[in-house]
Amino acid sequence: MSGPKPKQEGSTGVITILLVDDIPEARENIKKLLAFETDFKVVGTAGTGREAVDLAKQLKPDIILTDINMPDMDGITATRLITEAVPQTAVIMMSVQNDTDYLRKAMLAGARNFLSKPIDMDELYNTIRTVYKGHEAMRRQVEMMSQVPTAVPTKAAGVEGDRPGHIIAVYSPQGGAGVTTIATNLASGLMKEGIKVLLVDADLQFGDIDVFLNLQAQSTMVDLVDNVEDLDTELFDNIVVTHNSGLKVLMGPARPEFADEVRQHPKAPAEILRKVAGNYDYIVVDTNTALDEMVLELLDLATRIILVSTTTLPSVKNTRFVLDLFDQLQYPQDKTLLTLNKVWEESQRKNATLSVEKIQDYLRRPVFAKIPVVDERIVLSAINRGVPVIASDRDTNKPLIRDLLQLADVLHNALMPAEEETPQPVKGKPQTSPISGIFGRK
Ligand SMILES: Nc1ncnc2c1ncn2[C@@H]1O[C@H](COP(=O)(O)OP(=O)(O)OP(=O)(O)O)[C@@H](O)[C@H]1O
Ligand SMILES: [Mg+2]
Repeated sequence: MSGPKPKQEGSTGVITILLVDDIPEARENIKKLLAFETDFKVVGTAGTGREAVDLAKQLKPDIILTDINMPDMDGITATRLITEAVPQTAVIMMSVQNDTDYLRKAMLAGARNFLSKPIDMDELYNTIRTVYKGHEAMRRQVEMMSQVPTAVPTKAAGVEGDRPGHIIAVYSPQGGAGVTTIATNLASGLMKEGIKVLLVDADLQFGDIDVFLNLQAQSTMVDLVDNVEDLDTELFDNIVVTHNSGLKVLMGPARPEFADEVRQHPKAPAEILRKVAGNYDYIVVDTNTALDEMVLELLDLATRIILVSTTTLPSVKNTRFVLDLFDQLQYPQDKTLLTLNKVWEESQRKNATLSVEKIQDYLRRPVFAKIPVVDERIVLSAINRGVPVIASDRDTNKPLIRDLLQLADVLHNALMPAEEETPQPVKGKPQTSPISGIFGRK
């Protein structure tokens, strides 16, 4: 039997747990097992899926241990609702059904691990501690976002539309850091039922959202820039392209020589977004590396900036320069969310790359999100098919996908007021994930 373990440095001391099972004796048995360990604290118990969702929102436990089969709402549906609403909570499924189909469904719903009944004590302890540790980055992100006041929407007063219009600019001073990959997937991940998302290709140099999404641009931003005053919703709707996932896209210049037309009106792209913001919940902007007037106008306007760096020294140095510049521009610190892309696992890290700790020290900023380096074929095959990675596969257990979806979920939960969250499911109605509805994945 394993004895009580000292907690990891930086954690709050105790792992809080919500226990969910419809059979009272089963709950009591697990509760007794957990009571042996001083670093576990059962903060609540629930007998139905619906109760579990309510309690999860209220208690925000670190871990939920839940049965799969329950009356009123099954554990898989409950898990999906919980991981969407309370991303800092990690769900562990327990079931007598040990078959892979259940396992797959549970993982797709957002569960982080699986225990088969009857529960083995050591396995229970180890699983809770491993899942807790693995979820640390997520808890940190949510914690960071919770300290940030809800951002003021960016749309201009008196313009059309009643949506909040949060503008999220994705920027990196280093070419090839993954801005387009992150912007495209973030836009995709933010799409849920009732949420309108616009993706904007403002990379005038090497804009390649059309390639990422396999879109043909009949009309682009170039058609709008010299007549921004006359822009209205109807005209704008004619210019945006709709990806087959439902995502709206404002394309950049189709050819590099057209980019000059936009450069002649460097304030126009920001002005356009200010005008149409009220028609969207989120506008995600893919930018180019040069900090020219156009990009600065867009960064000024943005509610949040996802500043992307890789872990190489040149990239981190450039990022430091940009952070200093943002300070000079008096951007509030919490406007910028530092995101590291192509992060190697510590054990495989090469000398040429810096550890996350070193980067945080050097930049004197917390890292908001870490996105692992993956086999480039995963990204490329999605690109070849013209779909964002997370739209082609939503297996939340896969590194890149899990991290990109988390990024979208954390931003969504932080930027949208709680009452606008996913509505409570209606009793008796079959449950489908809003996202799976959009992307049609079964
Ligand atoms: N996490 C990742 N792991 C592995 N490869 C990645 C990852 N993120 C992006 N890539 C790859 O890195 C390359 C550059 O990505 P992307 O085009 O998104 O970067 P960018 O910052 O938009 O580049 P550019 O400066 O050309 O606009 C692409 O080939 C992409 O597949
Ligand atoms: Mg790009």
